Amino acid sequence: MIRLALRVHRADAELVLAELLELAPSGVEERELPGDVVEYAVYGAPGELPALPDLQAVAGNALVEITTEEIADDWHERWKAFHRPVAIPAVRPGGPGLRVRPPWEPPLDDGMEDLVIDPGRAFGTGAHDTTRLCLELLLGIEPGGPVADIGCGSGVLGIAAARLGFGPVFGLDHEQESVDATRQNAAVNGVEMDSLRFDLLLDGTAPAAPTVLANLVRPLLLAVARTGFRDGLVPETLIASGLLAHEADEIADAFSTAMGLREARRVHGGEWAALLLVR
Ligand SMILES: C[S@@+](CC[C@H](N)C(=O)[O-])C[C@H]1O[C@@H](n2cnc3c(N)ncnc32)[C@H](O)[C@@H]1O
Repeated sequence: MIRLALRVHRADAELVLAELLELAPSGVEERELPGDVVEYAVYGAPGELPALPDLQAVAGNALVEITTEEIADDWHERWKAFHRPVAIPAVRPGGPGLRVRPPWEPPLDDGMEDLVIDPGRAFGTGAHDTTRLCLELLLGIEPGGPVADIGCGSGVLGIAAARLGFGPVFGLDHEQESVDATRQNAAVNGVEMDSLRFDLLLDGTAPAAPTVLANLVRPLLLAVARTGFRDGLVPETLIASGLLAHEADEIADAFSTAMGLREARRVHGGEWAALLLVR
């Protein structure tokens, strides 16, 4: 097993991380190093790791160093050490809070909805700010009716929606690993959630639902706003995430112009923002 580490200047670290997660969707280990340097590490067998030129492109001028290291058999334990449970407190009066935990962490008996998510090779432990912000916005809306989770990754958002009382719920993703992880995680959590393989850039207008959860990146959200949804459907509620804070106005404008959606709420976490858009 190899540990591949990318060291970058702290000033650009959030931007590098956003790009790096596209190459390593199931997560990266983060360490602060002296001298305002942040190290992001991924683990894998030699053929599974991102290629060096891709890493260099992701880091750009922020690059300090790329290192590789053979590691001992305890890598599983190290990997687990940074998939920690994440708790999102209740947002609506009388509504539930939500805890998302990996399967190896025990449940807590504190009245929160308990979701078990094993991301496998898909994105979405729940801990990334972009996912957490979506869950926060989701907890703030009255549950009910069909949901589409577009770019579902591990299925974490759709599964949370199903658990909160929305339904039917389906997810789509262009990666088969995500489609499979979503099905498995739905079964583990005892909720109904279908998932299908669909490329938002190549496969035409996407199927949707009155509530759409879209934790994507800026260019994909712009493409979705431009292309619209199948049969001209305009969602009643669309949660858009995966945005750097300075990108949020542009995305709100794009959905306002294309579909007449209006911004009802905006939340921030780290460098990230997420939008609650309503009809
Ligand atoms: C930021 S992750 C979000 C995962 C999960 N929904 C969450 O909130 O943690 C974005 C997801 O979009 C998927 N994706 C990226 N490009 C896509 C495309 N062109 N069509 C469909 N899905 C795409 C990725 O595979 C990834 O699972």
